[in-house]
Amino acid sequence: MNISDKKQQWTNGTVAKNIARSPERKTDFTTTSNIELERCFTPDFEYPGYEENLGFPGEYPFTRGVQPTMYRGRFWTMRQYAGFGTAKESNERYKYLLAAGQTGLSVAFDLPTQMGYDSDAAMSQGEVGKVGVAIDSLADMEILFDGIPLDKVSTSMTINSTAAILLCMYIAVAEKQGVSADQISGTIQNDILKEYMARGTYIYPPKESMRIITDIFAYCKDSVPKWNTISISGYHIREAGSSAVQEVAFTLADGIAYVDAAIKAGLAVDDFAPRLAFFFNAHNNLLEEVAKFRAARRIWAKVMKERFGAKDPKSLMLRFHTQTAGCTLTAQQPDNNIMRVTIQALAAVLGGTQSLHTNSRDEALALPTEDSVRIALRTQQVIAYESGVADSIDPLAGSFLVESLTDQIEKAAMDYIDKIDSLGGAVEAISRGFQQKEIQDSAYAYQKSIEKDDLIIVGVNKFTIQEPPPTGLLKIKEEVEIFQKKALGEMKAGRDTAKVQETLQLLENAAKGTDNLMPHILNAVKAYATLGEIADVFRGVFGKHTETVVL
Ligand code: 3HC
Repeated sequence: MNISDKKQQWTNGTVAKNIARSPERKTDFTTTSNIELERCFTPDFEYPGYEENLGFPGEYPFTRGVQPTMYRGRFWTMRQYAGFGTAKESNERYKYLLAAGQTGLSVAFDLPTQMGYDSDAAMSQGEVGKVGVAIDSLADMEILFDGIPLDKVSTSMTINSTAAILLCMYIAVAEKQGVSADQISGTIQNDILKEYMARGTYIYPPKESMRIITDIFAYCKDSVPKWNTISISGYHIREAGSSAVQEVAFTLADGIAYVDAAIKAGLAVDDFAPRLAFFFNAHNNLLEEVAKFRAARRIWAKVMKERFGAKDPKSLMLRFHTQTAGCTLTAQQPDNNIMRVTIQALAAVLGGTQSLHTNSRDEALALPTEDSVRIALRTQQVIAYESGVADSIDPLAGSFLVESLTDQIEKAAMDYIDKIDSLGGAVEAISRGFQQKEIQDSAYAYQKSIEKDDLIIVGVNKFTIQEPPPTGLLKIKEEVEIFQKKALGEMKAGRDTAKVQETLQLLENAAKGTDNLMPHILNAVKAYATLGEIADVFRGVFGKHTETVVL
C-alpha cells in the first residue's frame, strides 16, 4: 500500500475515531490566502522508510505526534510553573494565571517542602517560601487550592522525594471539595533518578526511593487512574549543561529504569506505562530541538514495544511537558529573553509538546512579576492563535535537515542508552557518576565556547550596553517564614495528636514491611500529620542518601 492509501486508511480509521470522541477545534484550516492546510502533509512521491520511521500522528512510532489530530483537536496545555511564599500568595497567582487564560496548573514548592522539612525545622531557615510555596500540612494545601475546582483543572506538582505525601494531600483536598480520587488529573514529577544525577533534591537511597515510586504507580493504577504518576525529566539534565542528545538519552535511560523497577515490583507494563509522562527542555537551537522531540518519541515507542513488549498504544506514546530553557535567560537586557523564549516555545510546539511553560523575561534576576508572567503566557497564546503552526501536524516533517537531525539524534542517543545498559542500567551508571561526568564535560565545553566568543549570547558577549540596576523585581516578603511557623504551631495545637501519632506508627510499620505506603500516607495527611513528620518516619526506616562525588 503506498503512502496516500495508508493516509486514507489513517484518516478513515484513527482520525475518524478520535474526532468522533473529540472534534477538531475548527471545521477548516486555511492560510491567509485561503489555501487549505491538510491535517498532516505527506510526500506524494516514493519516500523509502516513511512508514517505519515517520508514520502518522497517533500511530506507532508516533514520530509525528502522539495524538491523531494534535493541536487541531486541542492546543497544548498552557501550564505556567508558579508558586512562592505562603499558600495564600500562590493561590492568588494561580487565580491570576487562570484568569489570564492558562489551561493547567503547575505548583512550585519551596526547598524545605521538596527536602522533607517543615517550615520550623532548622534546615529550613532562610528558604521558607523562597523558590516555591511552603507546604507543611493539609491545612496549607487547602488554602493553596481554595476556590480552584480540582475536577476541572489538571495540576502538575514539581515534587520528587516527597511526591507521595503531596499527592495524598491533593487527594485529601479534592475529597474535601467532593471530588473523588478517580476524577482528579495531574502529574507529580516523582523522578528521583534525575535528582541524584542533576538537581539534588533527593532524600532516601535509590532502592527505597524506587519503592516509594512503584508504590505510587500501583496505587494510582487502581485509585487515581487519570493521574500521571511520574514526569521523567530531561529539563534539569539540560539545565545542568547536557547536550540535546544527552538530554534525550539520559532521560529515556531513566525511563527504562523506572519501567524495569515497576515490572520487578510485580506490575504489568500496560498497567502503568500509559501514565508515565516526560518533561523536556526547549533550548535555543530551534531545529535541533524540534528534531530532539521527534527522535525522543520514536525511541520511546520502539523501546516500549521491542524491549518491554507493551501492547497498549498508550504505553508507547511519549507524552511530554516542555519548559523553555531557564539557563539561557540573561540578566543583561532582560527584554531579550522574550525573544529567546518565543523561539524556544516555537520549537516545543513544532516538536509536538503536550504541555508548555514559558519562562518570564526577569527570571534570571528574580521570581517573575505579574507583568512578566503575563507576557510569557501571551507568547504561547500568540503562537497558538496567530502563527498558524498549530493548524497542521508536524509541519517540519520532510525537511532534509530536520529528518536528518531526527535520525542522527536517535542514533546518538541510542548509543548512550546502550552504554548505560552495559554499565548495568541508569541507577548503576549514576552511582558510578557516568551521566554526571558526561554532563559536566558538556557544560564545561559550552561555557568555554561562550568565553571564547565562539558562541554569541546577545547582550552578554556581543551587542552589550551599559545598563542601570534592574528595578521592579518581585521580592519575597521576609515575614513569610515567621507567618508560616506561626500557622504551623497553631495547626499543631488544634489537631488530634494521639491520632497523628497512631497514623505515623502505622506508617512506620508499613515502611518496615512490604505494604503499599500510599494508604498509610493518606491516613497520616488526613490526620494533619505534617510533611516533615512523615518524611522523618521514612528517614528513620530508609536512611538518607549520600551523593556520589564526581571529580
Ligand atoms: N484529541 C483528543 N484528545 C486529546 C487531544 C487531541 N488532539 N489532545 C489532548 N487530548 C486529551 C488527552 O488524551 C488527555 O486526555 P486523557 O488524560 O484522558 O488521556 C487530555 O486531552 C489532556 O491532554 P494531555 O494529557 O496531553 O495534556 P496534560 O497537560 O493534561 O498532560 C502531560 C500533559 C505531559 C502528560 C502531563 O504529564 C503534564 O501536564 N506534565 C506537566 C509537568 C510540569 O508541568 N512540570 C513542571 C516542572 S517545573 C520544573 O521541574 C523546573 C523547575 O525545577 C525549575
